[in-house]
Amino acid sequence: MKTLPTPNINELKSLSFFSVFNEEEIEQIRDFIENRLYKKDEIIISEEEIGDLLFILLRGTVSIIKNIDGGEEVLNTIDKPGGFFGEMSIIEDKPRSAGAVAAEDYELLTIEKDNFLALVKQFPDLSMHIAVSIANYLRQTDMKLINIFKQKNREIETAYYKLQAAQEELVRRERLSTVGKLASSIVHDIKNPMTAIRGYAELIKGGGYSTKKTAKFAVNIMNEVDRFLAMTQELLTFATGETGLKRDKINLRDFIMEMVESIEQQFIDRGHQVKCRIDYDVNVFIDANRFRRALENICYNALDAMQEKGTFTIEAHSTDFGIKLLLADSGCGMIDIVKTHIFDEFFSHGKSHGTGLGLSITKRIVEEHNGSIKVDSEVDEGTKFTIIFPAN
Ligand SMILES: Nc1ncnc2c1ncn2[C@@H]1O[C@H](COP(=O)(O)OP(=O)(O)OP(=O)(O)O)[C@@H](O)[C@H]1O
Ligand SMILES: [Mg+2]
Repeated sequence: MKTLPTPNINELKSLSFFSVFNEEEIEQIRDFIENRLYKKDEIIISEEEIGDLLFILLRGTVSIIKNIDGGEEVLNTIDKPGGFFGEMSIIEDKPRSAGAVAAEDYELLTIEKDNFLALVKQFPDLSMHIAVSIANYLRQTDMKLINIFKQKNREIETAYYKLQAAQEELVRRERLSTVGKLASSIVHDIKNPMTAIRGYAELIKGGGYSTKKTAKFAVNIMNEVDRFLAMTQELLTFATGETGLKRDKINLRDFIMEMVESIEQQFIDRGHQVKCRIDYDVNVFIDANRFRRALENICYNALDAMQEKGTFTIEAHSTDFGIKLLLADSGCGMIDIVKTHIFDEFFSHGKSHGTGLGLSITKRIVEEHNGSIKVDSEVDEGTKFTIIFPAN
């Protein structure tokens, strides 16, 4: 900013601000006017600062700006010589409600606060002139602000719809990934009834069993085929987006004994024995197909872990929380690093054909039933899984 010579009387007379004064009065006012030259983009007043000057435009353009939501909005542009600003904070004796910046190089006449207030008091016509100007300014900024807020509202609305669409997409993907995980868990577990069916078929082929026993093997095969069909049906149901549990009231002892019957032969074939201890005969409210797959994955791991003459024990007890199942083998056990990762998807250790999905599936199914699972294992001694879940 630089100070220039004050304009002569005629030049001042041509400005609307001075239209209410006669020449003599303008002559007197001229004594306390200062003429300032501002460069483009130079800030003349900042929002919130205390006002001590009135500004009258001589040449150029001034933008009145206000900070809204962290962004600067141009509320008004003063480009007519004689247009003035800065009067409101002087009259109110409050901080500036908006800032002013040079939109291009311009000249401003300034009148100090005390002189301006004295003029206002002395010349009622000037008060009226200022009142009209303030009313115009408020009407203009009102419209401008309404438009700004309408625009902001539209932006918020658009952002809201985008967010909603993104959230819906996220939910859709989450559902797809759940369907994918469940589908792959069924594909993983589908080999279990198949292995059992093959086992029974081999027994029948070997011959030497009584007709009653052979009929029992056939019934077992039929049960395993039903389980296989239930799994394929579950897969098809996922396609419709249905992934929840299908809980039924099941007798715990029957449920465990049925599973033992289906897997036992495979343990016996490899020289192991399976022991069962069911202290707690109770009805449980579970998705039997899924829960059985959870337990079978533990059984098949035990089968892999035991070298010879192993013992696999299944126990059911009651706890304060509901039911406690223990599944223990006398196999090779696990080193610490394996123990920490066994429930991770695709973690497999020491097996040439392991997918590493078995125990992650088990854990998910147990948790779907509001249960928990933990493992205790000692190298060369064996491994014990503890599952705790509520009966209903
Ligand atoms: N009873 C156990 N004794 C020793 N190690 C075990 C036992 N159960 C699991 N593990 C270890 O945990 C790993 C992960 O088991 P998980 O059932 O998830 O996958 P996997 O058995 O390798 O593969 P899949 O189940 O597809 O055949 C196994 O590879 C094995 O190293
Ligand atoms: Mg496994």
